[in-house]
Amino acid sequence: MATTQRGLNPVRCPGRKGAGKGGTAMKRVKLHRPGINALAMVLACAVIVAAVTGRAQQLPDQAPIVDTAARAAKARSLAHAYSEKLRANLAQALKEGGPVGAIGACNILAPEMNTSVTDESTFEIARTALRVRNPDNAPDAWEQATLEMFQKALIGGADPKTLETNDVVTTKEGQRLFRYMRPITMHEPCLVCHGSNVAQDVKAEIAKYYPDDKATGFNLGELRGAFSLVQQLD
Ligand code: HEC
Repeated sequence: MATTQRGLNPVRCPGRKGAGKGGTAMKRVKLHRPGINALAMVLACAVIVAAVTGRAQQLPDQAPIVDTAARAAKARSLAHAYSEKLRANLAQALKEGGPVGAIGACNILAPEMNTSVTDESTFEIARTALRVRNPDNAPDAWEQATLEMFQKALIGGADPKTLETNDVVTTKEGQRLFRYMRPITMHEPCLVCHGSNVAQDVKAEIAKYYPDDKATGFNLGELRGAFSLVQQLD
């Protein structure tokens, strides 16, 4: 493959998972607020109907109530697994090539890593943020609103480990999706590439791959971004 899916400079990735599958990298799903609101209304009505009549299940064209708790639990465990894998890969890349080498490392760039975590499930996973390094990670409207909510909660002193959100939304094409997000905060090893004092050579290397980088200047404990998971429901 001459170019990556993310429109970056080509990077040679021997042993890259998913290579040869012809671009199996995850495509981010773009959603639209009006659909979200419409579905929220339908679900709210379904609950009200159920409460009033006690026979919502018998209505033929009622959208089924989604088992959000079980899906959220699965999404949470996938996000944890993904996070662990990222940290391990990052530590390895830093050990091998230092920060400059790690930027070009496949394990940071390769979106295929996403599918290696979610292969066994029907979830897709990605990272997003209010200020992104890779423009392909930019949030859609639902993610943006959720990130702003996380940001506010963290500033208000919330424990990031307890923060998460999930929702059932409908795309404008009528596809129902289960969506889940949890925050990613800044830790010590992140400062070298996302902090306020990024070394000159690291900056130069970042600029090579990400000329529009907006992901520096973060402090320890701040919101860096979020894991965002999506699963098609029908
Ligand atoms: C060696 C440099 C390096 C280090 C250290 C590093 N990152 Fe990144 N980070 C990157 C690069 C490069 C990208 C762009 C990846 C891509 O193309 O999707 C990125 C992207 C991200 C994104 C996705 C959103 C965006 O900005 O595009 C998040 C979230 C993130 N990093 C969080 C962290 C956290 C949390 C840590 C610490 C545990 C960390 N990073 C450590 C280089 C680094």
